[in-house]
Amino acid sequence: MSATFYHRPALASRLSKLILNVAVGSAAGSGVFLAAPRRTGKSTFVREDLRPALEEAGAIVLYADLWKDLTKDPGAVIVEAVREAVGRSEGFITRLAKSAGMEKVTVGGLNFSLDRIGLGKDIDLTSALVALSDESRKVIVLMIDEAQQAITTEQGAAALFALKAARDELNSSKHHGLRVVCTGSNRDKLAMLRNSKDQAFFGASMVEFPTLDQAFIDWFCANVDLPAALDPATVFELFEECGFRPELLGAAADEIRFDFSLDPSQVAVRFAECVRAQANELQANLKKVIHSLTPVQSAVLRVMSVKGDDFAPFEAPTMALYAKAMQQAAVSEQQAKAEISNVQQALIALQEKNLVWRASRGVYAVDEPVTVELLQAAGMLEGLD
Ligand SMILES: Nc1ncnc2c1ncn2[C@@H]1O[C@H](COP(=O)(O)OP(=O)(O)OP(=O)(O)O)[C@@H](O)[C@H]1O
Ligand SMILES: [Mg+2]
Repeated sequence: MSATFYHRPALASRLSKLILNVAVGSAAGSGVFLAAPRRTGKSTFVREDLRPALEEAGAIVLYADLWKDLTKDPGAVIVEAVREAVGRSEGFITRLAKSAGMEKVTVGGLNFSLDRIGLGKDIDLTSALVALSDESRKVIVLMIDEAQQAITTEQGAAALFALKAARDELNSSKHHGLRVVCTGSNRDKLAMLRNSKDQAFFGASMVEFPTLDQAFIDWFCANVDLPAALDPATVFELFEECGFRPELLGAAADEIRFDFSLDPSQVAVRFAECVRAQANELQANLKKVIHSLTPVQSAVLRVMSVKGDDFAPFEAPTMALYAKAMQQAAVSEQQAKAEISNVQQALIALQEKNLVWRASRGVYAVDEPVTVELLQAAGMLEGLD
């Protein structure tokens, strides 16, 4: 085990069982969704703990990170993950090439290009995954990090549908199973992938992914190596206060390490100050952005925050709520006009400010739950439901 990460083997093995051994009546075969707030260690856990646990349990794991390269279409990233897995073995390639009607295959891939696998290509994702399943006789787990990105483009949505078809085929008794595990930081957004019947993962299980716990803090305090020891109980309170984000602790420790004039007796106090200062800075930036919104933009953001999943941007009751929200903000009756075109512009502006996120079909969500929390704490959501 590496010293740079705190590992959670017990959680990994529990989740791995949930993913692989689908119990009677469980929806896990449709897919498993893991949601937790930003920067709380989802990707680290998936890469460092869950993936090895799944592999140890005998699965082939494919990993697609839809945030790794934002210039690539999410659909293309998913296809690449499949190609990469198929490309790992000549056996799969031979089998695939045959299924594509190429009898003479030059093993070594000379006659067969992985480019032929893809959406709308001669070898679709289902055939590729079926070949992988039959050849390996193992269950395949496809992990998609930041899966909500997939529904922001047509190609991404198409890839999800292709995966749904592949999943249904591979989970039949003829093959060895396909599990799709999606992670993301926003529950509302992830929920869009499974809530409506026309979405690819209707009915998939949503698991609230546990944040790092006291044991992580114990590990952190034992290994942080500062001029004086930190008290794990106090540090845990700080950690909780700051949204369970390990980076804030790490950065505070760095500040102390580089502060050569600090007296060891002051370490604990200074550490707490540093953590809080960073958390406040993050909040202050967000507040600034929120306070610079126009009345319509602010109204749209607040109504969206209140409505969550049920937000329908242009329906009459929603329009009335915008007007109400603007009046609350003491905008004069004359200025407080919510018109479709205003609202449209506001939605675009909010996206540009990264406050709001849009799925390809015009479904919107507040980008980060902290924004909602901040509005709530400031009393800006009162009277809007
Ligand atoms: N188990 C751990 N041990 C030590 N550090 C960790 C652990 N998990 C996360 N971290 C640290 O916390 C930070 C955020 O982790 P990570 O990127 O995994 O979070 P995330 O939830 O995937 O974030 P994002 O919302 O940006 O995708 C990283 O700097 C990482 O090194
Ligand atoms: Mg991540």
